Amino acid sequence: MENIETRILTVRGIERDRENIAEAGRLLREGKTVIIPTETVYGLAANACDPHAVAHIFSAKGRPQDNPLIVHIDSLEMLPSLVNVLPEAALRLANRFWPGPLTIIMPKSDKIPYITSGGLDTVAVRMPSSETARAIITASGVPLAAPSANLSGSPSPTTFAHCVHDMMGRVDAIVEGEPCSVGVESTVITLATKIPRLLRPGAVTLAQLREVLGEVEMDRCILEQPEENIKVSSPGMKYKHYAPGADVILIKGSAENFAQYVNTHADTDCCAVCFEEEMSLMHLPALCYGKTEDYAAQAHILFDLLRSLDDKGMTKAYIHSPHPEGIGLAVYNRLIRSAGFHVIEL
Ligand code: TXA
Ligand code: MG
Repeated sequence: MENIETRILTVRGIERDRENIAEAGRLLREGKTVIIPTETVYGLAANACDPHAVAHIFSAKGRPQDNPLIVHIDSLEMLPSLVNVLPEAALRLANRFWPGPLTIIMPKSDKIPYITSGGLDTVAVRMPSSETARAIITASGVPLAAPSANLSGSPSPTTFAHCVHDMMGRVDAIVEGEPCSVGVESTVITLATKIPRLLRPGAVTLAQLREVLGEVEMDRCILEQPEENIKVSSPGMKYKHYAPGADVILIKGSAENFAQYVNTHADTDCCAVCFEEEMSLMHLPALCYGKTEDYAAQAHILFDLLRSLDDKGMTKAYIHSPHPEGIGLAVYNRLIRSAGFHVIEL
């Protein structure tokens, strides 16, 4: 795509930087693309109801056209016009988890163009807890389609610097906000199936969803590689994802076995990514991604860590697999994809 001028709009506080929020809102209302911070990851936003504006999201990211976008709202008042039916279960989820890192898939209304829904008859909606994100939606006056603001296939951006790295010259503006507090994308659940189904794990956990809804299925694609040519429930799951330039190999096993394996397989420009408790066992360059049981810390640092492998010139990384429990399931789900499903069990 041709290079466009990208403006930087700094927002440190919604009162302090009222003018930049208004400006971001004005650009979005005019059909422009603006990267905004949210509590999960930065999102590349445009008016969800304007097919022309949404087309710019796809070209800026290099995103396949059949991969649908999440629509962001600032309040429950925005919801009814976006959906064809409003399931009672959606209201129960919204009551408990919105604003927050949960995306709910429902049958879409005609207001959502097919380019936004990737050709599907459903729409994914979320109300972010980030005050900056909600203030920008309010200022724009429209629901905002926003995928993660990375180049398609790369790790999602959790800081302003990540967005500048991937998107300078490709979008109309980038809002410079704080680093994202959660660090992995929202939990995605569909209510368009007979039994509600988790499509992507995130900070709202499966156990929390079951507390509200009772039965919730977990899509097979969360833990496994989708077979080729099968219809996946969430198109995003079939694409290569979250991959740094370095080869990522995910390793399952005890701390001792992990250390022994990586210490004997280390070659040049190769590093280990492990838990804090294991750092002293490593005889090769090692990066730490939190304590073994601290899943929230792992989620928070994950994408920055994957990006830093490339900054450090690493060509290979052995990553000690996290426990796929609670938010750890989200960390594990992103890591098996960034490893292209290359997993070694010791
Ligand atoms: O936390 C987040 O959700 C971030 C921030 C910016 O809000 N956004 C985000 O968007 O992660 P994206 O586009 O990177 O991921 C959206 C995922 C994709 O896997 C997509 O396939 C799935 O949600 N999705 C969206 N609409 C869907 C639909 N109607 N049916 C099934 N899956 C859908
Ligand atoms: Mg994404």
